[in-house]
Amino acid sequence: MHSYQPDLRLQLFPVSASLEKTQQGERLAIAGLDVHDLAQDYGTPLYLYDQATLQQSLEDYQQALARDYPGESRITYAGKAFLCTAMAQWCHRQGLVVDCTGANEILLAAHAGLPRQQILVHGVNKSLADLETAISCAGVLVIDNLAELDRLTQLAQQSSDLPELWLRLRPGLSVDTHSYTQTGHLDSKFGMSAQECVVAARRCLERSLPLTGLHFHQGSHFHDPSLVKPAIEFALDLVREIRHDLGWLPQTLSPGGGWGVPYHEDDLPHLPVEEYVRTIAEALHSACQARNLPLPRLQLEPGRSLIARAGVAIYRVGTVKQTPNRRWLLIDGGMADNIRPALYGARYTALPAFNPHRQPVAPAWIAGPYCESGDILIEDLPLPEIEPGELLAVPVSGAYQLSMSSNYNGAARPAVVWLEDGAPTLLISRQVAGDLYRNDRPLPQ
Ligand SMILES: Cc1ncc(COP(=O)(O)O)c(C=O)c1O
Repeated sequence: MHSYQPDLRLQLFPVSASLEKTQQGERLAIAGLDVHDLAQDYGTPLYLYDQATLQQSLEDYQQALARDYPGESRITYAGKAFLCTAMAQWCHRQGLVVDCTGANEILLAAHAGLPRQQILVHGVNKSLADLETAISCAGVLVIDNLAELDRLTQLAQQSSDLPELWLRLRPGLSVDTHSYTQTGHLDSKFGMSAQECVVAARRCLERSLPLTGLHFHQGSHFHDPSLVKPAIEFALDLVREIRHDLGWLPQTLSPGGGWGVPYHEDDLPHLPVEEYVRTIAEALHSACQARNLPLPRLQLEPGRSLIARAGVAIYRVGTVKQTPNRRWLLIDGGMADNIRPALYGARYTALPAFNPHRQPVAPAWIAGPYCESGDILIEDLPLPEIEPGELLAVPVSGAYQLSMSSNYNGAARPAVVWLEDGAPTLLISRQVAGDLYRNDRPLPQ
């Protein structure tokens, strides 16, 4: 475990973050904007997204793909990490495909102006509404199971313009991550076995459905890229078999997403995304050569590694409390806007937004205002003395936080502000009490 090193913590923040020296002291700024001013204008908890960081992460992927993959390639943004109208519009401008789960995310993306070709649909138990919405709005529908394929076949009879279909393979090979975010193992609820994929491919071809791709996703937030290699081998063995039996070859192969990010200074240094892309590109290249298969289009599907670092959560400390063995900093957000620590022990860090270079005192336990003892955002974190009213900035807050947020204890979902070229833009307004009971109806008289 590192001691208190504010400069190391700062490395986890967006690329545009800096500590500005003022007459009063050092102040955290992102994209040239003082975090205190933003908190004053928009309130706390506040979520900031830095455009420069998002752009940088995308370019890292694009450059790595251009350098290492000899075939055609594409990037899908996994919308489950964080999606709103502006985010979908950003993807549109960047030419990214957006992975949507369920009818409502598809409708959000379509409403944001994404054309069919930039909407891809996932889901392990798609309802009829999900399938119908995908048929009318999406360019790619990833089939999770044979029952879903049957439902789709029924619906396809009424439609002349179907999305391209991909099969989701369950390779039986997971990645090294928390069990709640593993998806590729044999008993995962996601996807089809190799045998089921053969059956699905046969059914699609017999019915002249537009089958074009093969997909797998082994899990989220892993750090060892070599674990994708055996899954690529497995998928290409299946491709070889299907080509032999049915004469079909996928135009696109998608090994999903899942590349991890550093959340805490103890996670540094972290393998760069280039290593992940290079490993996949080389594995696919050599696996195709070994089986005498043409190179498919490679479609990566990152969520977290594109957007997590761009996001920063700003909280205000309300109460400082001492219990026999712990110094508590009680803040105005927690498990309602970030369930990850409670859900799977995710480990975060935080920086005081004012004068972070003060001497550390005893480690702090940073907890939210909600009625759960598990509402602890960060445990045992070296920090200086913190006064009530100070701001704490939590880096790497861009993924799977707001998208999994709740109204627990009547929590209003926080405001989201986009920072670009020194200017803030409100992307999502803070919820108000009325948003919590808008859909409620009174008891009958
Ligand atoms: C099918 C699929 N693709 C991509 C992703 C993105 O994962 P990550 O955000 O870790 O890159 C997920 C996340 O669980 C997923 O389920």
